[in-house]
Amino acid sequence: MGKIVVQLALLGLMLAVVYTLPNKEDWDIYKYHINSTVTDGYAITIITSRVVNRRDQPTEIEFHVKIPKNAFISQFKMSIEGQMYDGVVKAKEEAQQQYSEAMSRGQSAGLVSSVGRSLEEFTTSVTVAAHQKVTFELTHEELLKRRLGQYELQIYARPMQPVNDFKIDVSIYEQPDIVFSEVKGGLNNPNLATIGAAESQNQLDVHFHPTVEQQTLCGACGDDGLNGDLVIVYDVFRDDTLGHLKESNGFFVHHFAPTGLARISKNVIFVIDQSGSMHGRKMRQTRAALVHILADLATDDYFGLITFDHAVHPWKRELVQANEHNVGIAKEFARTIEDRGSTDINSALLEGAKMLNQNPRDGSASILILLTDGDPTSGERNPVIIQKNVMRAINKKFPLYCLGFGHDVNFEFLEKMSLENSGVARRIYDDTDADLQLKGFYAEVATPLLTNVMLIYEGGANLTQTNFSHYYNGSEIVVAGQITDNNIETFSPRVVAISGNKHVEFSETNSSTVMTASMSESNTRRLWAYLTVKQLLDKEYVQCLIEYIFKLKH
Ligand SMILES: *[C@@H]1O[C@H](CO)[C@@H](O)[C@H](O)[C@H]1NC(C)=O
Ligand SMILES: *[C@@H]1O[C@H](CO)[C@@H](O)[C@H](O)[C@H]1NC(C)=O
Ligand SMILES: *[C@@H]1O[C@H](CO)[C@@H](O)[C@H](O)[C@H]1NC(C)=O
Ligand SMILES: *[C@@H]1O[C@H](CO)[C@@H](O)[C@H](O)[C@H]1NC(C)=O
Ligand SMILES: *[C@@H]1O[C@H](CO)[C@@H](O)[C@H](O)[C@H]1NC(C)=O
Repeated sequence: MGKIVVQLALLGLMLAVVYTLPNKEDWDIYKYHINSTVTDGYAITIITSRVVNRRDQPTEIEFHVKIPKNAFISQFKMSIEGQMYDGVVKAKEEAQQQYSEAMSRGQSAGLVSSVGRSLEEFTTSVTVAAHQKVTFELTHEELLKRRLGQYELQIYARPMQPVNDFKIDVSIYEQPDIVFSEVKGGLNNPNLATIGAAESQNQLDVHFHPTVEQQTLCGACGDDGLNGDLVIVYDVFRDDTLGHLKESNGFFVHHFAPTGLARISKNVIFVIDQSGSMHGRKMRQTRAALVHILADLATDDYFGLITFDHAVHPWKRELVQANEHNVGIAKEFARTIEDRGSTDINSALLEGAKMLNQNPRDGSASILILLTDGDPTSGERNPVIIQKNVMRAINKKFPLYCLGFGHDVNFEFLEKMSLENSGVARRIYDDTDADLQLKGFYAEVATPLLTNVMLIYEGGANLTQTNFSHYYNGSEIVVAGQITDNNIETFSPRVVAISGNKHVEFSETNSSTVMTASMSESNTRRLWAYLTVKQLLDKEYVQCLIEYIFKLKH
């Protein structure tokens, strides 16, 4: 029997990489299953692909999948002729560079499709002997993030050919009742996915088993079979309390998302890049989004606009109230923003921070939002020094959100800067819907409900992040940790925060609020490990592409 040569080459992730299509005659994928199980918001997805080499000689067979950006690969296995090989996910130094290159290539080739935006690629190949079969099995895990009042589980499938035995099966288990659910995405067009008969409000099953013919007829497919995503959207019941606490063998997870709180007013400053590279569509979309966002401000909000190129141009020296008059003239101003000059991010952000610091308002939530499409090219240009300056100026007083527009932007720099200042960075894709992306991002931070949120767990240890500057309507705060001595009796969770001018406290006087987790013990531990590693990665900003083997502590 011929010796099988196993070659493992796991590449770093690349978004929208142009890769050669495999020769369809060479091999056949005859089985492709995706099985995703979500328990208390934690998704574990297993992709299994079984492939046969049709040729009379050894052939290189490729396994290529897209996985969500925030997911970790926890396992990769290949089995050839009953022999099992465990994959090693190798660190790839050039990953960032490949990523940027791929981004620009993808952009110019128009390859970054809307489904590709929140996904990253995983590719490996193996040489398989004549007429032999190989099974690839990849497991990835992620904590679903609640945005705008819902969770979204996105499953992408592009097997590159119609597959005889193709299945996507999803099971969702949640302890508070599931209050709504919907199946969306290009694969579900026409509606081929079926929702299983619900045994209870705590379970949701979705099955998608298209025939070979259906695989060439759906909205997101062609002769090469399926090419699109299945998106399951849902949310669970929320109330005004401490939220849902689950415990399992010494580990706990706490989902905090109280409703029924009053909106608090905000002090928001938009710092807008008007450098030459914003020319054309980007500038037009920015103007359109800004006009829309200004119209959405509440009357008791205060706002400021700062445009910048090589110089900084505050619209007004201080924040103004979002009353009809001020919003009206701000919109007029927004409509006249024109591109010119280079990019002095440092001075612009320092000006924004100064304005927020000089205009504090008790009981409001301050927010600084930067929109840029490029590297710093004038003023202070060293990213490390800019980061230091900005951190000093903000001094943990309010979050900074960075929106990186297009593919020329130094996204790593923006992301690090946001994370250092308790915000997040978001990439805005240079596409026809960029103004919608901008508005969508704004909607997530439009309604602050709490500030200075501190989650306190007496009798808890090894906690993930517990201090959060803001809690927004539609979002969720998740904390995991260990219960000291596994003693529920001495474990006492509470949350203190500020709502407008009031101090508020969420607590329960007895421990019956801590439910036994519906997920198994190992899953609660995995969720904890996931959050711990993710937050460590964010903090250190180790390149967050999948250069990482997601190691669980045993
Ligand atoms: C999916 O995976 C889970 C966990 O491994 C298993 O219990 C379940 O039976 C699988 N579902 C399907 C439809 O294969
Ligand atoms: C928060 O969002 C929910 C659902 O979208 C909405 O019903 C509620 O009014 C919002 N709360 C505030 C204070 O805007
Ligand atoms: C959380 O915030 C409080 C109050 O500002 C502070 O005393 C505490 O050290 C912070 N905890 C962490 C882990 O940063
Ligand atoms: C916290 O983690 C450390 C290191 O892993 C471990 O030794 C300790 O037992 C943990 N604490 C609790 C209360 O479980
Ligand atoms: C604990 O809380 C539960 C549910 O909120 C309640 O039914 C029970 O009576 C409480 N027990 C005590 C001792 O307060």
